[in-house]
Amino acid sequence: MTDEITVPKGLVNVIVDKTAIATTDNSGNLLYRGYRAVDLVEKKSFEDAAYLIVYGKLPGQREREEFIGKLRSNFGVDENAREVISILKEKDLMRSLRSIVSFYPYKHTEPDDLMIEMAAKFPEFISLSYRLAHGLESLKPIEGTYAERFYHLITGKSDPQKAKYLGILMILYMEHEFNASTFALRVTASTLADPISSFTTALATLKGPLHGGANAEILDFFKNFKSTDEAVKYVDEQVAKGEKVMGFGHRIYKRLDPRAQFVKAKLKEIAPDSRILQIAEAVENRMWEKKSVPANLDFYAAIYMDILGIPQDFYTPLFAASRVFGWVAHYKEQLADNRIIRPSSKYVGPFDLKL
Ligand code: COA
Repeated sequence: MTDEITVPKGLVNVIVDKTAIATTDNSGNLLYRGYRAVDLVEKKSFEDAAYLIVYGKLPGQREREEFIGKLRSNFGVDENAREVISILKEKDLMRSLRSIVSFYPYKHTEPDDLMIEMAAKFPEFISLSYRLAHGLESLKPIEGTYAERFYHLITGKSDPQKAKYLGILMILYMEHEFNASTFALRVTASTLADPISSFTTALATLKGPLHGGANAEILDFFKNFKSTDEAVKYVDEQVAKGEKVMGFGHRIYKRLDPRAQFVKAKLKEIAPDSRILQIAEAVENRMWEKKSVPANLDFYAAIYMDILGIPQDFYTPLFAASRVFGWVAHYKEQLADNRIIRPSSKYVGPFDLKL
């Protein structure tokens, strides 16, 4: 074979393709279609940000109304999904969501329409899965913004202020160029598999604790700390054992994750005297002293969702319900200029074994 290129393990710093959807600029800001994500969360709704990611530009008034209408027309749990949820009654909501999506009936509609249809249903898929798994009645969704409706579907409460904060986090979770789940989705899409298969791949990949699953693990250790000293001791022990601390480190952000810092600032606004926030900062500082790895979005997002009254079971699914709009954009972008993604490997097994 000729022209072989050996790349670093984990494809570290390898540019595998072009994208016009998102990037991190030289100052470390996450950009969505050229706009800073942290500016979008201050000035735009979740629906506007989703439109921007999917269609490449901010919507005008008519486009906004049409897009919101399109999302609304797809709200609700279809019969097929209801059956899957009722049979599974699965408490692990990512397992449930992955199964519902993989069983989603294939319709010969435009892939774009099918993807928006599925994305719009994620909040209710997640809510119904949780409720049936816990023997609860399903909730009747409220009217309102995407975030208000989702906040109610998660908590059963109508709280526009908390929903606004949830919307902020959902925008920050929406897109991050070739992260693991999106790249996996693009690999599946590159084989010309349908959107349902591609979303299933992405959900399966997001579930892992080194990716989206991290946000569901943070409170597990965090809730046990009674003081900052205990938290610092935990960090020291983990580092001494060579173990990772969930919510730290990032492939792109080696010094600072701007999304994490933004969420931390919001936390100071929402709950300035919170003990959990003081402990979080002590953990963050100690991790920097010991390993020089920054807190990532998941670290502060977990604390933020806790303060917003969102049960831990919803953390990774909520990430999925946001990132799904990024997946829609990447599916389209991959197919617009497709070549099957099929790398090579260096064989290190035996040759010429005799039977
Ligand atoms: N806790 C302790 N040390 C960590 C760490 C963590 N969470 N994340 C990275 N490090 C250390 C590594 O041990 C390594 O140190 P070394 O050079 O002394 O061996 C160094 O930082 C580089 O880390 P590496 O694992 O090579 O980075 P990566 O780019 O391959 O992996 C992650 C990135 C996100 C997978 C990794 O940081 C991680 O596992 N984090 C915890 C899970 C998490 O929070 N995931 C959500 C990501 S948004």
